Amino acid sequence: MPLHKVIYDTDPGIDDAMALVFQALHPEIDLLGITSVFGNATIDTTTRNALYLAQRFAPGVPVARGAAAPLQCAAPVPLGWIHGDDGLGNIELPEPDHGKLDARPAHRFIVETVRAHPGEVTLLAVGPLTNLALALADDPGIAHRVKEVVIMGGAFGIRGVLGNVTPAAEANVHCDPEAADIVCGAPWKLSIVGLDVTHETVMTNAFLASIRDRGGEPGRFVWDISRHYERFHFESDRIEGIYAHDYSAVAYLLAPHLYETRSGPVRVVTSGIATGQTIQKPSAMHVDAPDWDGRPACAVCVGVDAPAVLNLYESTLCAGA
Ligand code: RIB
Ligand code: CA
Repeated sequence: MPLHKVIYDTDPGIDDAMALVFQALHPEIDLLGITSVFGNATIDTTTRNALYLAQRFAPGVPVARGAAAPLQCAAPVPLGWIHGDDGLGNIELPEPDHGKLDARPAHRFIVETVRAHPGEVTLLAVGPLTNLALALADDPGIAHRVKEVVIMGGAFGIRGVLGNVTPAAEANVHCDPEAADIVCGAPWKLSIVGLDVTHETVMTNAFLASIRDRGGEPGRFVWDISRHYERFHFESDRIEGIYAHDYSAVAYLLAPHLYETRSGPVRVVTSGIATGQTIQKPSAMHVDAPDWDGRPACAVCVGVDAPAVLNLYESTLCAGA
């Protein structure tokens, strides 16, 4: 019996795709839909990739096209050097059937699906948060109808972790800081899986080779698309492997006991050199801070049992081995 009805809001993107393959294989996840958003690539590319991934690994799961740009500015330049010009590591994948795209825009798909399953749906967002902000604008009541929201995004300075697009900002939040601040201020149960824990969760080359050799056809796909991403990680951070950013949000949903969290309201800086910075006022901090006070507390991940999180990925991908 699946425990989690999930709408996966994503900008595939190599780590997005690796997390989607995992969700398609995990018995406790019931993927109700995939909503695309700009970010790692243009909306045309991320939507094409979402359709491809659904048709190959999650047949029958609807895909809805989302926002092409942030709420208040133009779309960013795609990150070809990180995710490949095609968003999936430039491995020459065939075109999906574009006729299968849901007729609704992503935010309407989210609103209508949440209304159809009150109290049951988890929004799992691993790209810029524009679609979620648009859904809240369309129907603020969904904040009381979702089961919970889990996002991959942000960086809170735990153990000195900085941003990854500026010293202050993580990519998803930096792409649409206004949307991120709206999402962090909504009255829903929100958990934030940021760089503080995803930088602790590294899939090494040996780990990925094991997935390739023991994970069947999904495992070979994960290996193939991660080649480009692994080269980027070595060239940029000198690590021999990849940060498991988006999968970490899925792991948190399935196994929150593997994470240490800190409660408190979160604000997002929306202007100036620190645009995209995520700042939490911990609930244990007893100072007057009007910009935070009165906003709902979020659970920010500050620690992780990374070996156990990685073991969950490997055991799921290789279950058939
Ligand atoms: O900062 C990491 C995040 O940005 C991940 O979601 C990755 O896919 C990119 O979107
Ligand atoms: Ca992503």
